Amino acid sequence: MHQTISPAIFYWGTPVVLITTENEDGTFNIAPMSSAWWLGNRCMLGLGTISQTTVNLLRTKQCVLNLASDDMIDAVNALARTTGAKDVATAEEHTGYKYFKRMNGYKYVPDKFGHAGLTPQTSDIVRPARIGECPAQMEAELMGVYEMMQDADTQGFIALEVKVLCTHVHESIRMTGHQNRVDPDKWHPMIMSFQELYGLRPKKISPSVLARIQEEAYRPFSNRVQVVSAEAENDIRA
Ligand SMILES: Cc1cc2nc3c(=O)[nH]c(=O)nc-3n(C[C@H](O)[C@H](O)[C@H](O)COP(=O)(O)O)c2cc1C
Repeated sequence: MHQTISPAIFYWGTPVVLITTENEDGTFNIAPMSSAWWLGNRCMLGLGTISQTTVNLLRTKQCVLNLASDDMIDAVNALARTTGAKDVATAEEHTGYKYFKRMNGYKYVPDKFGHAGLTPQTSDIVRPARIGECPAQMEAELMGVYEMMQDADTQGFIALEVKVLCTHVHESIRMTGHQNRVDPDKWHPMIMSFQELYGLRPKKISPSVLARIQEEAYRPFSNRVQVVSAEAENDIRA
């Protein structure tokens, strides 16, 4: 039987993304987040306006979306309740989410790569570094900003639309024989559900009806193929 409840959060389960951006002094920031979803080559990111990541992204228009795998617990927990924004430490009561962070133990960490033991990798197109330990990394640029909750008292959250420019995946998650496909049997994303961290079940639960559509049929909504190889031909035929 169903019961009516009033959840304080609606985090039903989405992948953990470690967003890297460039700080004003040229160093790089990392923020774990999970209000993210993709459509075509666009990704929508739900972020607090006061987070250093948002400030950096609005200023530089660039980021890398690094996806955490389910074995990256230590790094994600090290990054949790940290911020690259100095002023959280002194936030006063009327400052909304900033004060919430201060009251909930967020600490200012200027070097998040060092703090979480992660390795910066130079990106191909954008300035922010990729995170070497993340099996999937998407260099991206900001395309749109949408204010959320405009009708409500609770403000300070925005949706940022970014365009994926370039995708890097570790060879361990590529589909054998295909240039442009990730093998979902090999890719083990970390999922956040109601603030707790999970992995997916190791195997698909059943064959998917949707997956009868070949992946390349979605190409018109996504990026053009850069390298045409025999493997890329396989993608088209699959
Ligand atoms: C697993 C995880 C998921 C999170 N998801 C989000 C999110 O979707 N949106 C958001 O604004 N903050 C999210 N946070 C909180 C941010 O990490 C937090 O606001 C952080 O201070 C941002 O860092 P920055 O200020 O250096 O950008 C999440 C934190 C963790 C650990």
